[in-house]
Amino acid sequence: MEMRLIFMAICLLLVTPITGSFWSSQMSMEPTLVCKKARRLKGRLGDMCRSKETTLLKEIARGIEIGSRECQYQFKNRRWNCTSLRRSLRKILLRDTRETSFVNAITAAGVTYAVTKACTMGDLVECSCEKIRASGRNEDEWEWGGCGDNVNFGSRKSREWMDAPYRRRVSDAKTLVKLHNNNAGRLAVRKFMRTECKCHGLSGSCTLRTCWRKMPTFREVGDRLKESFDGAAKVIPSNDGHRFVTELASTKPPGRFDLVYSEESPDFCKANRKTGSLGTEGRHCNSSSPGIEGCELLCCGRGYDTRVVKDKLNCQCRFRWCCQVTCNTCLVARTINACR
Ligand SMILES: *[C@@H]1O[C@H](CO)[C@@H](O)[C@H](O)[C@H]1NC(C)=O
Ligand SMILES: *[C@@H]1O[C@H](CO)[C@@H](O)[C@H](O)[C@H]1NC(C)=O
Repeated sequence: MEMRLIFMAICLLLVTPITGSFWSSQMSMEPTLVCKKARRLKGRLGDMCRSKETTLLKEIARGIEIGSRECQYQFKNRRWNCTSLRRSLRKILLRDTRETSFVNAITAAGVTYAVTKACTMGDLVECSCEKIRASGRNEDEWEWGGCGDNVNFGSRKSREWMDAPYRRRVSDAKTLVKLHNNNAGRLAVRKFMRTECKCHGLSGSCTLRTCWRKMPTFREVGDRLKESFDGAAKVIPSNDGHRFVTELASTKPPGRFDLVYSEESPDFCKANRKTGSLGTEGRHCNSSSPGIEGCELLCCGRGYDTRVVKDKLNCQCRFRWCCQVTCNTCLVARTINACR
């Protein structure tokens, strides 16, 4: 809840500087912002804002927040940690780097996820959970039932909302890259749906089973998209400029689930207003890890400062008859390394 309030507060703070080019940042896909301008909007987006679909708009806002939080989790050890600071995020979203592709995909996935969940919970009048009754392999033994996740509606709303700004300029490669990544995000939710079943019958005998489709956890969606991020393909506009192709002719063309980008990322080592890099000075690092969270890479070779902090912990707890637990307080030392 608190996160949500902070997020809303940030968005409100941002209302003022956004004028003409409010599409320039996906952050402004936040419904309260978008709909402020909705009177001038034509098409689906304007319709969604003007209609009484306020619950739907709330779910879209929730979805953007879910995406943003997952992005921060997945990137917490990277030089650019998916901060929600507008001065950074906005610049990232204006470009077309691997980071941009991930933020776009995870946001589109978050919106799909939140709207779908709301359908399942019965929170939206426009949709309900999935109640297919198809015959299974053995018709007598199991059937579809229960209340499944209806991902079609969620996907469609995510598409209408997230892709709306690009619909009219669909011919340039950069736009196609954005649409592709939005779609890859939505597919990541769909692809890992699973079937859950429940047994009915005498004392767990499972003579009758009911099955329904369920979305993966959003962490799983984030993990999969992070894998796609790690293997993202670099693309360039095709000769006619209406498509994109992989930069290296030898690499296989990206599939619908893959993330694509067209610009190299900055190294994010130093703060740079132009790229949206905040730099890594002061970031905590792990001195024994060879990976991206290790001090060597995270601090870009600048070195790091070490300090020891002592945490108060409960220790030597004893159970005393009856019924009390008493503990001593111990100081436990912990080393913190921070990039120079
Ligand atoms: C993300 O990075 C910024 C600057 O690089 C830092 O100020 C912030 O504390 C980091 N956030 C987290 C959650 O580590
Ligand atoms: C630091 O990295 C090492 C090696 O990768 C790992 O074993 C250890 O758990 C890490 N420490 C923390 C606090 O994450």
